[in-house]
This record gives sequence, structure tokens and C-alpha cells, in this order.
Amino acid sequence: MKAAEIRETYLSFFEARDHRRVASASLVPPTHDPSVLLTTAGMQPFKPYFRGDERPPHPRLTSCQKCFRTPDVENVGSTARHLTFFEMLGNFSIGDYFKERAVEYALELSRQGFGFAVEDIWVTVFGGDEALGLGPDEEAIECWRAVGFPEERIVHLGRADNFWQAGPTGPCGPSSELYLDRGPAYGPDSERPGDDTDRFIEFWNLVFMQYELFEDGRLGTLPARNIDTGAGLDRVAMLVQGVDSVFDTDYLRSMIAVGEELSGRAYAGADFETTRALRILADHGRGMTFLLADGVVPSNEERGYVLRRIMRRAILQGRVLGIEETFLPHLVQRTIEVAGGAYPELVREAETIAMWARSEEDAFLRTLEQGERLLGEIVRRARGRDELDRRRGRLPASRHVRVSV
Ligand code: GLY
Repeated sequence: MKAAEIRETYLSFFEARDHRRVASASLVPPTHDPSVLLTTAGMQPFKPYFRGDERPPHPRLTSCQKCFRTPDVENVGSTARHLTFFEMLGNFSIGDYFKERAVEYALELSRQGFGFAVEDIWVTVFGGDEALGLGPDEEAIECWRAVGFPEERIVHLGRADNFWQAGPTGPCGPSSELYLDRGPAYGPDSERPGDDTDRFIEFWNLVFMQYELFEDGRLGTLPARNIDTGAGLDRVAMLVQGVDSVFDTDYLRSMIAVGEELSGRAYAGADFETTRALRILADHGRGMTFLLADGVVPSNEERGYVLRRIMRRAILQGRVLGIEETFLPHLVQRTIEVAGGAYPELVREAETIAMWARSEEDAFLRTLEQGERLLGEIVRRARGRDELDRRRGRLPASRHVRVSV
């Protein structure tokens, strides 16, 4: 199943179960939500519904939300699954069904929609937290037992793993995550979900959204008990397609191909540096296209800086691959071809996206050339001074000027 089919399978599964399909909101959060610079989760546009400030169009919703997370930017390319931009599939209940139904839906879709074997699925549940004044989530444990999960595949974890909040404050709650065991080829039998290794891969987070966290650390109760789930499309595609990393799925592999075509280097069997550079081009190329489509422009502040940073990181990695010519327009063009069907704004804004890609790359390349010229000048002057000192007998003939760049 291709990533596009997985996206459609998820959304239509929930539509068939009375969920209203909602288009992704912008990556730029609404002004009423200053808690984040960019949308980081599928639930973010729905915060006013969870808080009871606004009535949802329907009590059950489903969406595939564009998300951008910056904390992992340095890890992108070095690991099998870190990304900046991703699409988050989610089903949401605003005061409608709660844990039992959320667990049943997740299991049904994982088995029948994604084709995962039930014995390969493990789950984690909130094991309690003293500071929050909450005990283990017995209700969630009972739901997993009720659908046939044995105790050993229900793993209890703490607040860091199984209590979810979209930011430092706001709607939150205990969560339960689904993991797929990829088998001994990916790690020893002693590994467990939550170990952050390659054997057990988390693919779906069910958040039981019933609290609101305030600035003073107090936990209030939301007007209703809600469900908020998140399943990263690239992660699910990696598992459904049985490939080693998110970059090997059909979606990101078609982005990797742009770097291959431009550099003449192959991704398969490449050394670490080349693999990392090709992956960074794929992730950042996709991310910059979506940010530009949502009206973010490169600058030195806030969202614009996040965009400028990924554009410049991509340009530098292009040099690692030996690409000399302007190439960001090729990366954004491929993203539009691959994702434009699901996100019409990419097609609508294609010209603007290409214009910014070209102008930012040209400007950065000029800055780099200027920097290289200045550095060359400094080196020449230093060498000239050394030569003079040597002639005056102040330096031994063996001294070399060493400059590392
Ligand atoms: N809101 C759940 C998640 O992003 O994992």
C-alpha cells in the first residue's frame, strides 16, 4: 500500500464510522494559540472544541494534519525515523466515545486496514505519576485486556512516555501507544516498547484528553472526556511497506530520488555522509515546500527563521553531495508532484514556492561565495605576513599556516 492509499484508508475508515473528515489546518497556528510557532499535532486546530470554547461541526472528526516539529532537526538523516515535517493522521471524539471505542477502532484498523498481525502489536499505558497526582490508567489497561491483549504485551510507562500535552500548557491526558514488533532482525528479544530502539516502533498514540494543564502546574478537568489520536503517516507507511526507514517508503523515496538525480550518487548502499545528505534533502525539501505554501517566508525571526534554517541546511548538504547548481526549485517541484493531489494549496502556490526557493538559494550562495572570498583573503594575508617574518629571521622556515574550514 502506498502512502497515499494509507492516508485514504485511515480517513475513510473513520468516515465510515461517523467521523467528519476535516481538511488539514495551516502549519501556521491560529492567533488564539500562541503556545507554538508551528502546528505540531493533529489536535491543535481542535483545542477550542476540547476546551468547550467552541462547538465542533460534529462530535467525531478525522483529519490528516500537516505538522512541523523542530526539536529533531539535528537528528534528521542520521536515524531511521526522525523528521521535521510529517502528516499526522488522527481521529477525534469531542465528548463522544472514549477509551473503549478508541482502542477497538485502533486495533481494527491496524489489523484489517494496515494488515498488522495482532501478536506483533504491543501497547503501552500510563503507569501513574505522583507529581500529577494520578495513578495507573486502569481503565485503559482494562480496555486492552477486553480486546484480548495478554498482560505481557501491555507495558506500563511513566509521564514522559504516556502522558501527552501539546505544549507546556493546555488540554492533555494520559495516553496509550501502539507499537509494532519488527522481530529479531531489528533487535534482541529483551527489548521493549519505549526503549527507543529499532525493534519496537510506535505508530499510533491514543490520547485520553480529559485534563487541562495550567501554568502553575495545576491539572484542571476539561468539560468533557475526549479522544485525540495521532498516527504519523510516514511511520505507518514504513511498517506497512516493511522497509527499514521512513526514507525508504514510496513517499520519501521519491524525494530522495531528486538528490540522486542531481548528484549522480546512489542512495542504496551509500556511505553515512551521502545517506544523511540525501535524507536531509528529502525531509527539508518537503518541509520547506509545505511551509512556503502556508505563507511562511524565509527571514531571521520565528517561523521564517525555522524555514531559512532548513533551506540553508539543505543547500549545505547539496554541497556535501557535490551539487553545484541551484537545486531547491527541483526539490519543491517534486514535493508538489508527489503531495499536490492531497494538498491543493501546493499546486495553487507553486509559483510563489518556486520563487522563494530560488531567491533564498541564490542569496545564500552569494553569502557563501563572499565568505569564501573573505576567508581566502585572510589566508593570503596571513601567509604574506609569515613570509615577511621568515625573511626577517623571526620564524623558522618549517612553520606552516594551518587554516581549517
Ligand atoms: N496528539 C497526539 C499525538 O500527536 O501524538
